[in-house]
Amino acid sequence: MTKEQPVRLAVFASGSGSNFEAIVRAFQTDQINAEVALLVCDRPDAFVLKRAETLGVPSVAFRPKSFDSKEAYEQEVLDHLLGASIDLVVLAGYMRIVGNTLLKAYPNKLMNIHPSLLPRYPGKQGIVDAFEDGATQTGVTVHIVDEGIDTGPILAQETVAIEPDDTIESLERKIHAVEHELFPKVIQTYIKKLQKEHA
Ligand code: GRF
Repeated sequence: MTKEQPVRLAVFASGSGSNFEAIVRAFQTDQINAEVALLVCDRPDAFVLKRAETLGVPSVAFRPKSFDSKEAYEQEVLDHLLGASIDLVVLAGYMRIVGNTLLKAYPNKLMNIHPSLLPRYPGKQGIVDAFEDGATQTGVTVHIVDEGIDTGPILAQETVAIEPDDTIESLERKIHAVEHELFPKVIQTYIKKLQKEHA
């Protein structure tokens, strides 16, 4: 990464990809010396791949189970990241625990979004767990990825109220709306910090 060259971002996603799309659109419209250069997907039938095609973002899709080991899968992903000169990786609905191969290659350069106020409600069902727990508030967390599940230094959090008339669906909609605003902003702030460090 140099001061002049755009920071190259890879997004990892497994599903619908509404956050991926929000990130790409924000990067297309905002004044930032960075670009979404690659989508990495671990489910070849995921809708996010269609979004990437529409948005003109290169993508690669894998079937992790077809590899001999997690290390072999991650090494293949890493080869693509290095081949595309990726500086920073963000996980946007990537339903897989990142292993050492990728963590070591991108120390402090792997970021995740989670739909709860961590450390409350980590894991795959953050929205449902908060709702079923009867919580009156939950939210969104963006954090640096470490070897744990939804642990790692927190970069930003935003609270979302759970009203008595909320359903899981209405809560999901509110959380996603917050995610789509917050995540691109936090990524961009982090990129500016990295650019300053390399200036
Ligand atoms: C988001 O709620 C994100 O916080 C969680 O997975 C969901 C992905 O949604 N990790 P989408 O695929 O971006 O629409």
